[in-house]
Amino acid sequence: MTPRALLSALRDGHDVPPDAVRAFALALGDGSATDAQAGAFAMAVCHRGLSEPARVALTEGMRDSGAVLSWDTDRKVIDKHSTGGVGDAVSLMLAPMLASVGGLVPMISGRGLGHTGGTLDKLEAIPGVRTDLSAPTFRLVAERVGCAIVAPTPDLAPADRRLYAVRDVTGTVRSIDLITASILAKKLAAGLDALVLDVKTGAGAVMQDPQDARRLAQSLVQVANGAGCPTTALITDMDQPVLPAIGNAVEVAAVMQAFARKSGRLVDLCMELGTVLLKAAGIFYTEKGARDALVGVLNDGTALQAFGHMVAEQGGPENFSDRWADYLDIAPGHTVTAPRSGYVSGIDGTALGHLVVGLGGGRQRETDRIDHAVGLSDLVELGHWVNAGAPLAVLHAPDDAACDAVAAAFAITENPPNQNPLIHERIVP
Ligand code: URA
Repeated sequence: MTPRALLSALRDGHDVPPDAVRAFALALGDGSATDAQAGAFAMAVCHRGLSEPARVALTEGMRDSGAVLSWDTDRKVIDKHSTGGVGDAVSLMLAPMLASVGGLVPMISGRGLGHTGGTLDKLEAIPGVRTDLSAPTFRLVAERVGCAIVAPTPDLAPADRRLYAVRDVTGTVRSIDLITASILAKKLAAGLDALVLDVKTGAGAVMQDPQDARRLAQSLVQVANGAGCPTTALITDMDQPVLPAIGNAVEVAAVMQAFARKSGRLVDLCMELGTVLLKAAGIFYTEKGARDALVGVLNDGTALQAFGHMVAEQGGPENFSDRWADYLDIAPGHTVTAPRSGYVSGIDGTALGHLVVGLGGGRQRETDRIDHAVGLSDLVELGHWVNAGAPLAVLHAPDDAACDAVAAAFAITENPPNQNPLIHERIVP
């Protein structure tokens, strides 16, 4: 089928042969499909959608448009992907936890996007840490430590890079079919045996509407399993940040505190995601076995040690796990106070995320340099009672000019809010 015939069939809403969709994805990667064809493809898919087999074919074709890693190991190769939120440094804790119970976690991560933070930016808040590892060094670190967190290499899913740029300028970014293929092409190129998806919903999420989050989760689970990778999704709550911090160095500090405290929202989320993933990968036969093992490596310090090992192997300080407070550069703190007494009944995570980006903690343009030192910490939890004048958060910035804007992101009411559970729903194949 020629690209012209494929595009005409898609335009008219016909079922298209998966082979033709795969061939088109490969043509996007090798440059033989034109930009005009890429734009027409994106718009047609956005309007008409793809059948499930065609979506799987698009994903596999985009994955195979570049390098696909394979691993010579007895360990199961596993990973997690999050659709994005604020104060969400799950990867920094979960990857070493999974490595500590026998998984191999070659995590190819992203940078901040819109109001949400990026794992790579957070990790680079640690002095010396490099995320732009070559493919051989990535492999070496992952095999030595059990986990590594790196930026995508240029040869990873080039069809996605091409189509994403076209979607960005043709108003077709929000198509569930295209988002599904884009996310999974890059994840599956890491050669995974199993994957867990953290699909966020709520005030700080990219997919704020629960129905959108559910549709995306179902599509991701169908396609990933259709492409042969056992995958489950958890729809998780982003009505408040996962960590009591938003930014780069402040989030790393909050992760180190969570490793020490061994409790809190971040730990709970890592337990849920890790348990589902370890069972799906067949590393543990039961969820209880998986959960007990994860609790064990958190409590006995093995997971923290693995985190420190990964940091050191990626160029950071040898003793970061013990002396992290000496290494992290965090801007001076200014306390943000409650304007009145009441229950914290809403936290506008999107507004707070944008505020941190505005302080320089994220990028307005792709080429911007990040200020890792700015951010927010000590965020009060949803449902807490605060007295007028009590702290809501600490703003880390050169001055206190943004304090009022931070306070405005907290809704304070007479009655406590109804709160969603951390895990809204599990989407299984
Ligand atoms: N993340 C991706 O990698 N691709 C999308 O299309 C959306 C989010």
